[in-house]
Amino acid sequence: MKEKETLIEIKDLTKFFPIKKGIFNKKISNVKAVDEVSFSIKRGETLGLVGESGCGKTTTGRTIIKLYEPTSGQIIYEGKDIAKLTHAQMMPYRKKMQMIFQDPYASLNARMTVGDIIGEPIDIHKLMGKKERLERIHYLLNRVGLNPDHANRYPHEFSGGQRQRVGIARALAVQPEFIVCDEPISALDVSIQAQVVNMLEDLQNDLGLTYLFIAHDLSMVKHISTNIGVMYLGKLVEIASSNELYKNPLHPYTKALLSAIPVPDPDMAASNKRIMLEGEIPSPIDPPPGCRFRGRCKYAKPICAEVQPQLKDLGGDHKVACHLYE
Ligand SMILES: Nc1ncnc2c1ncn2[C@@H]1O[C@H](COP(=O)(O)OP(=O)(O)OP(=O)(O)O)[C@@H](O)[C@H]1O
Ligand code: SF4
Ligand SMILES: [Mg+2]
Repeated sequence: MKEKETLIEIKDLTKFFPIKKGIFNKKISNVKAVDEVSFSIKRGETLGLVGESGCGKTTTGRTIIKLYEPTSGQIIYEGKDIAKLTHAQMMPYRKKMQMIFQDPYASLNARMTVGDIIGEPIDIHKLMGKKERLERIHYLLNRVGLNPDHANRYPHEFSGGQRQRVGIARALAVQPEFIVCDEPISALDVSIQAQVVNMLEDLQNDLGLTYLFIAHDLSMVKHISTNIGVMYLGKLVEIASSNELYKNPLHPYTKALLSAIPVPDPDMAASNKRIMLEGEIPSPIDPPPGCRFRGRCKYAKPICAEVQPQLKDLGGDHKVACHLYE
């Protein structure tokens, strides 16, 4: 079988937000939201990105598609580093990269009709005349399981699941290649989460899409992800194929995340002891030296306080950043 090509690769991607103070707006510190994160995604595949709230998942996604300017590092898209491209130079890439947002209530403009919400990216890129645009909107509504007659309605007339379908149709409007799905199902009723994930998978297969799929916990990403990356306080601490990560989690944080997933079988559940995470999450403003997980890790050794563990390939593309594996 032909090896799939790498569509997107980030190398040491870093995004700091400055913290300013005083009348001169002097920078006093940085929020180290994303700190030297590296991974790649092959065309047509999905990288699941998980971790607790505030660990930098959204910032990673937004920086990759340059909704945020990276502080440093590379974003190599189809072989070209786009990290330092200007707004104008980014225009052709903006069409290729889209985003689906977590909150389908906040992310859609309440004053626009659903048709105009979906058509807006087409207008921004000046892609179609009026008739073709309308046909495309109807096609897209149909594609995401909504009624084309609903184009003239407003977001408040729809349920959460339907609104997220509108958000997906909007992301698809300009025929992108790569979509950052930022917790697209977290705000939805459990009963409709699977429907939306299945639809995203069908769309991926039909349209050859590549996803970065962000979620809080590992149970949401297993099914859809080819590979899964685990983030902790701005750092990627482990990455492997989806099966490998579930079968053989290595990082103590990944093990804790996996143990938190409810197991339906009571016999299995008894043997699957939940690992409680203790200790405070340190602040990304001034992360401690050494391993950032140290304060919550029961395996911490002296070196963990001094040296930051680097992501290391232990074979078969299973990478982990932890001194236990050195
Ligand atoms: N625009 C911003 N300005 C300043 N700090 C920010 C900004 N956006 C995010 N941060 C900070 O960067 C860190 C990472 O935030 P981010 O939203 O990327 O986390 P997340 O993993 O997506 O969390 P959640 O699961 O809650 O969505 C947090 O400490 C957050 O407060
Ligand atoms: S590097 Fe040390 S503190 Fe960090 S996860 Fe590994 S053992 Fe725990
Ligand atoms: Mg987020």
